[in-house]
Amino acid sequence: MKKGELLFEGNEKQVYATDNPDQVIFRYKDVTVAYNNVKRARFIGKGALNNKISAILLNYLNQNGVETHFIEILGEKEQLCRKIEIIPLQVVVHNRIAGSLAARLGVEEGFRHPNTIVDLRYNNDFLEDPFINRDHAFALGLATYQELDEMYNIARRVNELLKPLFHKAGIELVDMKLEFGRASDTGSIIISDEISPDTCRLWDEKTGERMDKDRFRLDLSCVVENYNNVLTRLKQVTES
Ligand code: C5P
Repeated sequence: MKKGELLFEGNEKQVYATDNPDQVIFRYKDVTVAYNNVKRARFIGKGALNNKISAILLNYLNQNGVETHFIEILGEKEQLCRKIEIIPLQVVVHNRIAGSLAARLGVEEGFRHPNTIVDLRYNNDFLEDPFINRDHAFALGLATYQELDEMYNIARRVNELLKPLFHKAGIELVDMKLEFGRASDTGSIIISDEISPDTCRLWDEKTGERMDKDRFRLDLSCVVENYNNVLTRLKQVTES
């Protein structure tokens, strides 16, 4: 497999072509952005950590019947993935209310609720990723109703699989953002992008310490140390 041209450069990732038209290389950068790119910093080692954490989680999903774009790790910062047609939607799953949802609903950070909440956002930097519903998504031609149903069902399944996995590692999965695409080879809806401390809220079950991007958002320091702690604990529960 040969690395080809740069197809896409985002704030936190690069995507390269390969000599296989159905496969791409994802490269995780050390850059971190928040609040719609208003806040930005570089953390040496973050890219490698997210590459490894995301690989563990996506591989775990693949092994448990949830199709993702992940194929294999290639190096410190790179992984081989299936090529997809991007669906510009973010499906956000909440097990507790925190972050922007807490502000939107006027409840305290960490508010506990009995159900799982699933939100939909339009992935659009210019509009600052607005909350939308299924009708908006269909109206804009982003996905069919059947595809939206599939994405919601997959998102709930991912949550059912990852919540107990993180729990085994002593970490509470508070919320997470998932992205989807249509696989270029089969056309099926699969999980794309990353699942990492950049896209999840992860709280230490014992201490309540934040182990995710909120450390950067809220200037709590020790970003890389906490990501490393997430990786170490996930390795312990998946390799044993
Ligand atoms: O920012 P907000 O509180 O809405 O985030 C909800 C969840 O989605 C968090 O886990 C956050 O890290 C993730 N998220 C993301 N990418 C964004 C916005 C939020 O991964 N652009």
